[in-house]
Amino acid sequence: MLFFNNAIVRTPAKSVVNGIDDYANSGKPDYTKAVQEHESYVKLLTEMGIKVTILDPLVDYPDSCFVEDPAVVADKFAVITNPTRSSRTKEREKIRPIINKFYQKDQIFEIHRPGYLEGGDVMRVGNTFFVGLSARTNQVGINQFTKIAGKFDYEVISVPVNEFLHLKTGTTYLENNKLLVAGEYINNPYFKNFEQLQVPSEENYAVNCIDTGNGVIMPAGFPKVKTILIQHGFSPYEINMSEFSKIDGGLTCLSLRFNA
Ligand code: GLY
Repeated sequence: MLFFNNAIVRTPAKSVVNGIDDYANSGKPDYTKAVQEHESYVKLLTEMGIKVTILDPLVDYPDSCFVEDPAVVADKFAVITNPTRSSRTKEREKIRPIINKFYQKDQIFEIHRPGYLEGGDVMRVGNTFFVGLSARTNQVGINQFTKIAGKFDYEVISVPVNEFLHLKTGTTYLENNKLLVAGEYINNPYFKNFEQLQVPSEENYAVNCIDTGNGVIMPAGFPKVKTILIQHGFSPYEINMSEFSKIDGGLTCLSLRFNA
C-alpha cells in the first residue's frame, strides 16, 4: 500500500549548478546530468503509482528543485515555510500556487519572520512531527509550526541538529517503527523508542531515503545501506543522485509527498 499517492517536484533550472553547497564540497553539478537524474526520479515515482505534478524550472532560484523546503504538506493542512538563506526565501512564493491548488484556504498556514523553518527539518511519524532545530530552522519557527500542527492534533518534538544540514539528512523514517539513523542520531535518546537501522559513516548520504510503502527509494552506490534495507525486509530502488548530492540535496528534498 502506498503511503502517499501524490508528489510535487520542480525540474532543475540551469542555475542548479550554483546551488548552495555548505557540506558536500565535491564540485559543481552538471546541469544535463541533474536533469536526467531528476527524470529518473519522476519516472520511478510514476511507475510506483504516484501521481507526479511537475513544476517549471526557476532560473532565479538555483535550489528551487528542492521543493521539500519551502512547504510542509500533511493530510489535513499545509504550511508555507520560511527558508533561511536569502537565495531561497522567495521560493515560498513560488510554491504557493500549487499548494493553493491542492489545499483549501483554511488549511494553509505560514511561518513568519523571525521564525524560520525548512521542510527538510520536518519528519512525520504518525501523529508526531519531529522538527530539527538546525542552521535552517529556528526555535521561533518551530514554535509557530507547533501551534499550527496542534490545531490538527499533531504533537511536535524539537530535535537538535548539529552535524547535518537538515534533520532528514541525518535520519529518515521507514514503516513499522524503523528509523534509518546516521551520525548524531545513532543511539540518540530522542529516537530511543524506534528500531534503529544504523548507517555506517562512509554511507551517511544514503540515510536520506523515501519509503513509498511499495519499496524504499535510495541513492545509488551505497551497498551497505542497500543490504541493511534488504535484511529488514524492504525492497530498495536506486536512483543516481550524483549531481544533487554535490549541492547537499537528498531524495526527500526533491519532492513534496502527500495524499490527495
Ligand atoms: N542546496 C540545498 C540547500 O542548501 O538548501
